[in-house]
Amino acid sequence: MKWLRLSSAAFIFALAAASGCKPNEKASVAADTVSTDKRTAVPLPAEGQQAVLREMRQMLGAMGGAMLAASKGDTTALLASLKPAGSAAAADPAIEALLPAAWKELAERTHGGFDSLSIAVRRTGDPKLLKDTVLVRLAQISGSCTSCHETFRVTVR
Ligand code: HEC
Repeated sequence: MKWLRLSSAAFIFALAAASGCKPNEKASVAADTVSTDKRTAVPLPAEGQQAVLREMRQMLGAMGGAMLAASKGDTTALLASLKPAGSAAAADPAIEALLPAAWKELAERTHGGFDSLSIAVRRTGDPKLLKDTVLVRLAQISGSCTSCHETFRVTVR
């Protein structure tokens, strides 16, 4: 990994030298110009970007917590883990207004997936069925995580 970091630093330095600017000025310019990221950039104010990433970490935590609780057959812990990822915990409307329609659709599907998993968990009495329910539905939910990650990235405007 070390050589990778070194070689990209060398690359940026070379770019800076070629464009005639000082090494410190080039970094952000070079990073934008040479980015090979083809995903759609969604520019947000700094707080909005942080709120989105916080929500993401919450969903990742919910998935981990749900898997752990299901592996122990602990319905109470399972419901508690899922809650922060449900629709009620979704991004505030001010941020939502800045997001593309396709994003919102995927986000609703994802939060809705956590809601319906909670409903399914409440209906499931047998701990063995609980594991299956969680496994099948988390697999579906993670399909929405992946679709969005492949389509969008966030930037600070
Ligand atoms: C509607 C779009 C969308 C959905 C759905 C989505 N994500 Fe994300 N997520 C993003 C974007 C955009 C980023 C930032 C990626 C970037 O800018 O490179 C991100 C970043 C993250 C990060 C990194 C957070 C950080 O602090 O840097 C995690 C973890 C994450 N997502 C987890 C999830 C999980 C788990 C799910 C599904 C349960 C999910 N995401 C669903 C769009 C989405």
